[in-house]
Amino acid sequence: MRTQVGIVGAGPAGLLLSHLLHLEGIDSVVLELRSRDHVEQRVRAGVLEQGTVELLETAGVAGRLRREGMVHHGIELRFGGRRHRVPLTDLTGRSITIYGQQEVVKDLVRARLEAGGRVLFEVDGVRLQGVDTDRPAIRFRAGGQDQELHCDVVAGCDGFHGVCRDAVPEAARRVFERAYPFAWLGVLAAVAPSSEEIVYAASEHGFALHSMRSPTLTRLYLQVDPDEPVEAWPDGRIWEELQARLATDDGWTLDEGPILDKGVTGMRSFVVEPMRFGRLFLAGDAAHIVPPTGAKGMNLAVADVHVLAQALAAWYRTGAGDLLESWSATCLRRVWRAQDFSTWMTGLLHRSPDDDPFQLRLQRARLEYLARSEAAARSLAENYVGLQQV
Ligand code: FAD
Ligand code: PHB
Repeated sequence: MRTQVGIVGAGPAGLLLSHLLHLEGIDSVVLELRSRDHVEQRVRAGVLEQGTVELLETAGVAGRLRREGMVHHGIELRFGGRRHRVPLTDLTGRSITIYGQQEVVKDLVRARLEAGGRVLFEVDGVRLQGVDTDRPAIRFRAGGQDQELHCDVVAGCDGFHGVCRDAVPEAARRVFERAYPFAWLGVLAAVAPSSEEIVYAASEHGFALHSMRSPTLTRLYLQVDPDEPVEAWPDGRIWEELQARLATDDGWTLDEGPILDKGVTGMRSFVVEPMRFGRLFLAGDAAHIVPPTGAKGMNLAVADVHVLAQALAAWYRTGAGDLLESWSATCLRRVWRAQDFSTWMTGLLHRSPDDDPFQLRLQRARLEYLARSEAAARSLAENYVGLQQV
């Protein structure tokens, strides 16, 4: 097989890259380990920055997003039994949209297949070859047969646990990482959201997050110990803990309902530099992970492939490689801004086993400052809605 751009991974990064390249007249093939059903059902992110929504709109894949996505103009910070609204739109002029990542994936898969795009699901044994030459290839198995895809460039969009990053020799990459002494237990519940806006709660029992997916689906998260088995969290214990961590002094109530999905996700920060090696471009979670507290991961993946599609388009059109040369540095500026914001939000809201009483007082002072100072709230808001220029 032959194509111009070989893409590994059909998450938001790989699918959107394939779609954006198609709009530029550039051919690509997407190779995905899992089934179409699996990638379309996997519950993950939910917050889209306005810039992400605008890009999907310009790319012609935002019809359902516009109809079903929920535009939000603020978020709530909850601590000490009190609620404080951060009015995102008043502070920045911009908004966020709540729309499940798997819905973005469904919309992109449909757009690719309708345009005759090649997305191969349930492909395994992916191995990259010759990414340091100008004739790279991807070997894989599909339908029980060994295959080879020859291309001009390879986009490694295969997430944090993918194989593409390993094709970069250790001497040619530098890794920056940080582990956190907690994880998130995420649940999807068949009950109307109890709050109109997303609630980030810092409590003495740990962090809790109340989000939503639709007028009848609530998405909730709890800070739990790292490597906590999901079996340790029967539904009754989850609701009890959510009730305790989200409680307020003003009579707010959390409605409970059947839990449809639950999972534990470890929390880490990770960046590989540079994001390019020869003809291999690592985009999205393959190159960087942020803790989910800032809601940045999917938005970063989208930003990476937006810049990459433009750089590849310029290269194919004119032969000029300058945008490809600067691609990694351009992306890393945004990545590190998001890394800083996500780390800061995480520290602001979580309890660590090594927090001493002094640290807890500092955390409370930071939260009070955000609740009282417009300057502090604006800084949070402009990072949360996404900086237009980084
Ligand atoms: P992925 O979505 O991981 O896609 C990679 C794809 O590659 C997958 O389909 C995988 O099956 C495939 N693959 C892997 N290995 C191979 C292989 N060897 N061969 C072929 N294919 C392979 N981000 C936000 O912006 N906002 C949020 O609110 C938010 N909340 C989150 C909440 C949770 C609980 C979690 C876990 C994440 C959250 N994120 C959030 C992060 C976001 O989900 C990720 O950043 C996003 O999925 C990155 O997209 P991606 O396409 O780079 O990678
Ligand atoms: C979500 O709705 O899944 C969500 C919201 C905010 C976050 C992370 C996840 O920070």
